[in-house]
Amino acid sequence: MTNILRPTHVEVNLKNLSHNLSVIRERVGKRKVMGIVKANAYGHGLVEISKHLEKENIDYLGVAFIEEAIALRKSDIKTPILVLGGLDNNQIEMFLENDITITGSSIEKLEAISTKAHELNKIAKVHLKIDTGMGRIGVQWNRAEPFIKKAFDLPNIEIEGIFSHFISSSLDLDLTKKQLERFNSVLTIVDKYTDREKLIVHLSNSGAIANNLEDAFFDMVRSGLSLYGYSPIEDFQKKLKPINTFKTKVSYFKVLEKGSTVGYDATYKTKERTRIVTLPLGYADGYARSLSNKGKVIIRDREYPIVGRVCMDQCMVDIGPDGEAYNGDDVLLWGNDDKNNIDLWEVNKTANRSIYDMLCGISQRVPRVYIG
Ligand SMILES: Cc1ncc(COP(=O)(O)O)c(C=O)c1O
Repeated sequence: MTNILRPTHVEVNLKNLSHNLSVIRERVGKRKVMGIVKANAYGHGLVEISKHLEKENIDYLGVAFIEEAIALRKSDIKTPILVLGGLDNNQIEMFLENDITITGSSIEKLEAISTKAHELNKIAKVHLKIDTGMGRIGVQWNRAEPFIKKAFDLPNIEIEGIFSHFISSSLDLDLTKKQLERFNSVLTIVDKYTDREKLIVHLSNSGAIANNLEDAFFDMVRSGLSLYGYSPIEDFQKKLKPINTFKTKVSYFKVLEKGSTVGYDATYKTKERTRIVTLPLGYADGYARSLSNKGKVIIRDREYPIVGRVCMDQCMVDIGPDGEAYNGDDVLLWGNDDKNNIDLWEVNKTANRSIYDMLCGISQRVPRVYIG
């Protein structure tokens, strides 16, 4: 069979994914773990990553939209799935038909869920969303009582869980503690209406796990970034193994005379006669345009600079007057090969981008190759 893979691809290391899950499990003990697989599993492949996590007995999967959840059900994923994002009332039926857990984020939404579930003679599974400082979906912690009361009054709804989301659990522990206090105050209200033991209470994301905020682990943690092997907390980063290696191959070699321009707007001019290679990837693949004249790549175990503007589909590298590179040579963009490593945190810093948007920004046209 012809190999239709583009030379540009992301290698996703599933062994490392399993390793990261075991690091998280070790940290949180017997609590459940929800694998956050929204946004194409942070760029790594929604279905493949979810299947692997299911094999590893992940307790729950978290996605942003119902469409992602249905894609998982169509791929025969049986694990419970929570859609974390805001609910479009027109989609309630799809949740019920596909056994997908709904985030209940207001009284009006709960009523709509209950009505639809009653109409279809079903029980909707719901996790209540409390806003403790994010200011996006969810009922504010200090106005939560009528919402909670209503949640336990309405027919055809099973309140399976309650959760909130930290806004700065890696960086600002005071703010994080404040959010935890707010969430705890809501849980005391919950106690008035139900036995809290019956609920799955969850709050912690990767930052809280990395900072070992045990009081915030409750019954389940929700892990995205750390599952994929990245943490801004140095000690925790050392325990994790990144799963993402971005690679391409040299597609063109040329010699340019001193004073030649490279790329759009002539932002790079050669200072001497030099060798320039072209790579078949650009910002439309998720190689940030802000890496123009700043990024570094490795070819034949040597580091070289990206020169000129990163184009939509191509970018150029100056390998110097004596640099050695041939068409088809492997190029490491980030991650690691047998001998070399380019730390994605460094690439982010250079690109002035967050690790989340770098990972999610690897576009659909880049094939993902699963190893391990
Ligand atoms: C509600 C919710 N929970 C958990 C996560 C996972 O966060 P992290 O990737 O920092 O673990 C996210 C990610 O944005 C989220 O929106």
